[in-house]
Amino acid sequence: MEPTDSFIGRHAIVVGGAQGIGRRCSLALAHAGATVTVADIDGDKAAATAAEMAEAGLAAHSARIDIADPKACAELVASSSAEIQPDLLVNCATLYREAPAIDQDPAEWTDVIHVGLNGAFFISQSFARALVAAGIGGRIVHISSVSSTHSMFAKAAYGTSKAGIDAMTRALACEWGPYGICINAVSPSHVTTEAIEAAAASGALAIDRLTARIPLGRLADPDEIADAVVFLLSDRARFITGQVLGVDGGYSANGDFVEILHEP
Ligand SMILES: NC(=O)c1ccc[n+]([C@@H]2O[C@H](COP(=O)([O-])OP(=O)(O)OC[C@H]3O[C@@H](n4cnc5c(N)ncnc54)[C@H](O)[C@@H]3O)[C@@H](O)[C@H]2O)c1
Repeated sequence: MEPTDSFIGRHAIVVGGAQGIGRRCSLALAHAGATVTVADIDGDKAAATAAEMAEAGLAAHSARIDIADPKACAELVASSSAEIQPDLLVNCATLYREAPAIDQDPAEWTDVIHVGLNGAFFISQSFARALVAAGIGGRIVHISSVSSTHSMFAKAAYGTSKAGIDAMTRALACEWGPYGICINAVSPSHVTTEAIEAAAASGALAIDRLTARIPLGRLADPDEIADAVVFLLSDRARFITGQVLGVDGGYSANGDFVEILHEP
């Protein structure tokens, strides 16, 4: 990606940016010209990702954050503001704790909702408060999932957290539009990240059945999710807010699509 006016002189915080989709979002935004703070609960991995970016000549910093802690969210936004006020936020933090609902440990359910949904609100609120205090607008993108609208086995907690993300995205867009803050979500089906590749390699995830369900016939590359995130953060998306954009190869459009053969 080439640097563009949308991103030169801008500062993006990418939470959950150390690996997977967040890492690709960090790289894409930095290549587009933004300064990027790679923030993650795994501080060492965030530092390694930022160091790799800096070695490639990109503007990157790192920070350790637990998004489930509202105080830590406020501190991250404050400490990132020293050089350039951040006005772009991507939230990719998530916990995958899959279990059949009948067996799910209540503590695990709570953790998934706390990180995936409550944390998304805490970081959004800290970020928006800083923008309002600075008197500038900004843009936020959360990563939702097709699990928010399409049930997947053993993912009741995860899907519930993502359905909350979709509702929160609409609510915050309405409340914060008057401040010039746009908030949207990107909703992928399965993406070839480390976690998905490991699940496929172990046989836990039946890739053939999954790709048969996707009209484009394959999983997404993380860069395809990052491209949509970059678009929604760019000035080209300046009148888009409160939307959940499916980036799913047609997964959510497919309702048991059965071919009916007609006699000629
Ligand atoms: N991979 C997929 O197929 C897929 C599909 C649909 C949606 N998503 C969503 O995309 C986003 C990224 O997914 P991924 O597969 O790259 O995930 P991942 O597990 O590879 O990366 C998530 C990152 O979040 C960090 N994190 C976890 N808890 C945190 C916390 N409390 N505070 C801060 N950081 C924390 C992790 O350390 C990790 O670096 C998630 O929201 C996920 O739900 C992924």
